[in-house]
Amino acid sequence: MSSDITGTAAWQKLRDHHARIQSVHLRELFDEDPARGHELTVSAGDLYIDYSKHRVDRATLEALLDLARSADLEARRDAMFAGQHINTSEDRAVLHTALRLPADASLTVDGQDVVADVHEVLDRMGDFTDRLRSGQWRGATGERISTVVNIGIGGSDLGPVMVYRALRHYVDAGISVRFISNIDPSDLVRTLHGLDPATTLFIVASKTFSTLETLTNATAARRWLLDGLGLGTDAVAKHFVAVSTNADRVAEFGIDTDNMFGFWDWVGGRYSVDSAIGLSVMAAIGRERFAEFLAGFHAVDEHFRTAPLEENAPVLLGLLGLWYSNFFGAESRAVLPYSNDLVRFAAYLQQLTMESNGKSVRADGSPVPASTGEIFWGEPGTNGQHAFYQLLHQGTRLVPADFIGFGEPTDDLPTADGTGSMHDLLMSNFFAQTKVLAFGKTAEEIAAEGTPEHLVPHKVMPGNRPSTTILAPKLTPSVIGQLIALYEHQVFVEGVIWGIDSFDQWGVELGKTQAVELQPVLTAAESPAAQSDTSTDSLVRWYRRQRGR
Ligand code: F6P
Repeated sequence: MSSDITGTAAWQKLRDHHARIQSVHLRELFDEDPARGHELTVSAGDLYIDYSKHRVDRATLEALLDLARSADLEARRDAMFAGQHINTSEDRAVLHTALRLPADASLTVDGQDVVADVHEVLDRMGDFTDRLRSGQWRGATGERISTVVNIGIGGSDLGPVMVYRALRHYVDAGISVRFISNIDPSDLVRTLHGLDPATTLFIVASKTFSTLETLTNATAARRWLLDGLGLGTDAVAKHFVAVSTNADRVAEFGIDTDNMFGFWDWVGGRYSVDSAIGLSVMAAIGRERFAEFLAGFHAVDEHFRTAPLEENAPVLLGLLGLWYSNFFGAESRAVLPYSNDLVRFAAYLQQLTMESNGKSVRADGSPVPASTGEIFWGEPGTNGQHAFYQLLHQGTRLVPADFIGFGEPTDDLPTADGTGSMHDLLMSNFFAQTKVLAFGKTAEEIAAEGTPEHLVPHKVMPGNRPSTTILAPKLTPSVIGQLIALYEHQVFVEGVIWGIDSFDQWGVELGKTQAVELQPVLTAAESPAAQSDTSTDSLVRWYRRQRGR
């Protein structure tokens, strides 16, 4: 077991760096080292990443890399790629990187050729989606399927939703996808509104096939289908397929396991969009585009696996995340994609990063001696600019931000005056924001513009607010795969340094159990026994009165 990272010489050195650099402004850092804007950059696949607007100098970066070495990062990374059981609390390998290995690669884990298994499922997914997309697979009335509804939650929902929205332009066979996740019945009712059961196919996506939300929604969807078709239960086979690791439960639910696409316990839910969980995405964009999506992940996997630490994008960005969390006391990181098609990217990252690293004990059960788990949040620019950027610019909190932008737009239109393009306007906002966050505007500069004295303090832009700029040529299937892998590996880097198990999620279990226990308390005809605390007791009684019980 790794030793307490905060007791290492590398950690102590970073404390000293922090004491020195915390009062140094980014303006000074750029004055002292003007080349940093060209040199503190890194490429990973098609991604060009500028990390020069961070509150570090080159010596700080060296110290951060020493910290990574002290935590044995390279050996831990190699252990993950090799399929060792690094998810110790569940005694599992962590092999999402195997999901994107090319067919001619080989990796044997626990005596099993996982690459062959992965490609066998990919081929089955490809055959199924080919049939769906060509109209060969038809519903029970003989009509073509035009809508796929994915029923899943957490990792069985957020990835497919985010990627489907991001790749809107690649939806090319007349199949649109909708998503149902919440156990709030409004989600299902709203999503199914206007759909024709005859042309609708459901994918029930659940790693465990035991998740209350998903099974409840799938049962309600089956009822909707059978009521709508009026053809008897045989119709289910033409309208329901499953994605899961649990064939027994799929069969128990009434879905033919011939119509099931499997994956493995070494794929964490939040790392599963590139497994069969991505079936809805493949249905929409086709198997070739899905292969490009996987190749994008693989390009960044290879970068992470082989690039020296000082040129390794996930390593550098993970270390910078930790720098602000543990030394500056930053609580959160904003993710600001300048692409409306990435509207669900922050929500996706919330599960990926916070379910992975929201832990307070280390892998050996001892308390983590530093704060863990950055809080990720964000919205696409420019909407965010007109909402919360005020706090980013002038608030008292330090919020490091990731800006994600694209050279080529997915859509473009002329500006109102016809002299330019809306994408250029979007991107001029993008560059302006990172510039203003870093360099701000001083009281002297503001006063020199003739601003009345009493307004000067209100208008001062302090700057010194760090950001990473991530640029990609275009939002393609490959690029979205690259972006996801970039964040997956940052999570890993942080988790290794904190010494936590980033691949379990015990913290979500108790709420699930207590919800099951509370349901009869809410619905029983007779007055229930008192709850163990008076707050929950009064709340439950309030609810029962509302429901006439
Ligand atoms: O509740 C958390 C969680 O276990 C996630 O980790 C997972 O992505 C989600 O629930 C859904 O689980 P499943 O795919 O097994 O339905």
